[in-house]
Amino acid sequence: MAGSPRGNNGAMTDTTVAVLGTGIMGAPMAANLAAAGLTVRAWNRTRAKAEPLAGKGVEIADTPAGAAAGADFVLTMLDDGSSVREVVEDVLRPGAVWLQTSTVGIEWTATLAALAEKAGVPFVDAPVLGTKQPAEQGELVVLASGPEGLREKCAPVFGAIGGRTLWLGPAGAGSRLKLVANAWVLALTNATAESVALAGELGVDPKLFLDVISGGALDVPYAHLKGGAMISGEYPLSFATRHAAKDARLVLAAGGEGLDLGGVRAALAHLDAAQDAGHADEDMAAVYYGLRVGLPGR
Ligand SMILES: NC(=O)c1ccc[n+]([C@@H]2O[C@H](COP(=O)([O-])OP(=O)(O)OC[C@H]3O[C@@H](n4cnc5c(N)ncnc54)[C@H](OP(=O)(O)O)[C@@H]3O)[C@@H](O)[C@H]2O)c1
Repeated sequence: MAGSPRGNNGAMTDTTVAVLGTGIMGAPMAANLAAAGLTVRAWNRTRAKAEPLAGKGVEIADTPAGAAAGADFVLTMLDDGSSVREVVEDVLRPGAVWLQTSTVGIEWTATLAALAEKAGVPFVDAPVLGTKQPAEQGELVVLASGPEGLREKCAPVFGAIGGRTLWLGPAGAGSRLKLVANAWVLALTNATAESVALAGELGVDPKLFLDVISGGALDVPYAHLKGGAMISGEYPLSFATRHAAKDARLVLAAGGEGLDLGGVRAALAHLDAAQDAGHADEDMAAVYYGLRVGLPGR
């Protein structure tokens, strides 16, 4: 593809994107960027996880700096704020735009924006909505915020990873909306676990719960997705329990003292109990386990 890269809209591009972090989300994002005709250099701490991308037109770099050298964009998709800072600290150079897509919350976004400013690098706070499958399909929703003047420049990158991009204002606005959406995801998954567990306790087939809400005003696809996992006892990994717990903490920190986010607090208690019981790296539907191990006396 080098020499005559072509974007997914057929336009010629000569854009290079460094993708730092090729986990569940970063790997398909890198693959979709390459498929859209962008030049992609990826780095991952555990190199073996990045290697399969070589077969998808992505160059694998040995170091974050090697990936980022001369790139137009540096896209981070790592665990949390501290891992992002650790990885980018000595990598940012003027000339690149930093697209920060990991979920890091409000305070870390401010810290990372300050780091970018110090390095003379424009910063776009761009967390994403959607999980493994939408990432693979290039159908994420990108919650972009940052300098308005970068909107056009970023369009080929966000267009390759997402089905929809919202530009929300100055950096930080994307992370705020992300937390609002994740409060909903966390409470919904926990509520699903509670109804499935209650059904079990009452001798009701939990599939009847999903059946009875099906197609009506109470229905939501997520209940079937996560509830189905809880009922089957199989938890194919889309979004790890440890990341869900991290996000619950970010939501609670953002809500501050003045707001009682009881649904998110309950979700966090159950997520932490599930983690303590050894389910940290399973899908967040494993919050279900936390309902039992989290209860005193059980
Ligand atoms: N999965 C989802 O549904 C989803 C959806 C939206 C947003 N998010 C957010 O996106 C981010 C990534 O999620 P994911 O699901 O892709 O997680 P993941 O599969 O666990 O990937 C995490 C990545 O971060 C790297 N990493 C962690 N700590 C590091 C450190 N100290 N130094 C260098 N690299 C480090 C990991 O490297 P190794 O491979 O070496 O461990 C891996 O590449 C998280 O902030 C998550 O909350 C996830």
